[in-house]
Amino acid sequence: MSTFSAPRGTFDMLPPYSETFNRIRIQFGLELRDAGYQYIETPAFEDTGLFVRGVGESTDVVSKEMYTFQDRSGRSLTLRPEGTAAVVRAVLQHNLQAQRHPVKLWYFGPYFRYEAVQAGRTRQFHQIGAEAIGSADPLVDVEMIALAVEGFQKLGVSDFRLLLNSLGCKECRPVYRAKLQEFLRGLDLDEETRRRVEINPLRVLDDKRPEVQAQLDDAPLITDNLCEACAEHHAFVTGMLDELKIAYEPAPKLVRGLDYYVRTIFEFVHDGLGAQSAIGGGGRYDGLAQDLGGPELPSVGWAVGIGRTMLAMEAEGLDIEMPADCDVYGVALGESARREIFKFVTALRLADIPADMAFDHKKLKGAMKAAAQSGARYAIVLGERDLAEGVAQLKDLATGEQTPVALDAVVDTLKEKLQ
Ligand code: HAM
Repeated sequence: MSTFSAPRGTFDMLPPYSETFNRIRIQFGLELRDAGYQYIETPAFEDTGLFVRGVGESTDVVSKEMYTFQDRSGRSLTLRPEGTAAVVRAVLQHNLQAQRHPVKLWYFGPYFRYEAVQAGRTRQFHQIGAEAIGSADPLVDVEMIALAVEGFQKLGVSDFRLLLNSLGCKECRPVYRAKLQEFLRGLDLDEETRRRVEINPLRVLDDKRPEVQAQLDDAPLITDNLCEACAEHHAFVTGMLDELKIAYEPAPKLVRGLDYYVRTIFEFVHDGLGAQSAIGGGGRYDGLAQDLGGPELPSVGWAVGIGRTMLAMEAEGLDIEMPADCDVYGVALGESARREIFKFVTALRLADIPADMAFDHKKLKGAMKAAAQSGARYAIVLGERDLAEGVAQLKDLATGEQTPVALDAVVDTLKEKLQ
């Protein structure tokens, strides 16, 4: 016990689950790299203005959930609540768009939102994200969606649904917004929701309360009010998803909580998770670069929540406990044997054979127990007498069979056996 524990809404990612956490990151990372996405890392905090301008002042994320603080010289800084605004900021700052189009990037890290804590919702959480910056091609929207689907599938996650919508563009959305507002003003809504009708009416469609949803059956839908270009874009995306046999559910009331989206938006929901069911989400944000003072750079991206992906894996009965890899475990009795064993372990690791050993002068019984716990297939047991005879005992931990092997042949013998 310590006097302190991790702050509310944060968590320690402990073994053996932490290995799965890493595996998810590596799985998505390798797959994104194979699709031409390069890794980017941005700071954990940014100028507060970046998120106010980028994510939108009226969003819950900005107005209620940011960890904002002043540093010692009075700057207003904010722990990043999401990744997209910062990635676009970095692209613009370093003029990456001058080199290639689209700039394809992926990232991973902790994000921070002061939210009500519940299962699947924490105040520090980890995302893997991908962004393709500088392309208006609807095929890139489809590439994005396909990559997320592939990532989940490769982890063995299958009980998820893809919700898809279009939010229109700066031409057709305002017209739709006015139409929706007119409809919403005629409903019986509480004061706060009426205020939302005036500021961010599309968010009202997303209201989970049954008394609100019950009144929304006849609400005008964005997908019936798209301009020709947006309708075409959307039809291309749905058509291509059909061709790839990627199932999706049209979700004309899906809005998402960030203001930068236009056209395609999507969310991956998992039905085994309860209220916080979104394991990932994203969409197009064609105007964000301009909002941040840059050129026009139509873009699309997504982020996947690692914690929720792990919950999804657990809900599907997938094994999320991953012990550390170990093929060979060294057991030494006596000081000179310890040194020899350590040299074997180092050489095995250099040969890409996962190896570990007993430390702290453990006695034979304790060391053999640790060998069994490690999951290794072989133990190298070395006592002073073995050493004098120039051999080590190679023990097959499954069968218990033990054979002496000349010291200078130990590494090669193990390499052969473990091929
Ligand atoms: P988001 O939907 O706000 O999108 O977050 C993406 C994912 O992060 C969610 O689907 C969820 O799995 C996870 N997540 C969000 N908040 C929490 C929380 N409090 N606790 C646990 N997990 C959470 C974005 O952040 C956008 N930047 C995605 C994007 C990239 N759009 C375009 N490019």
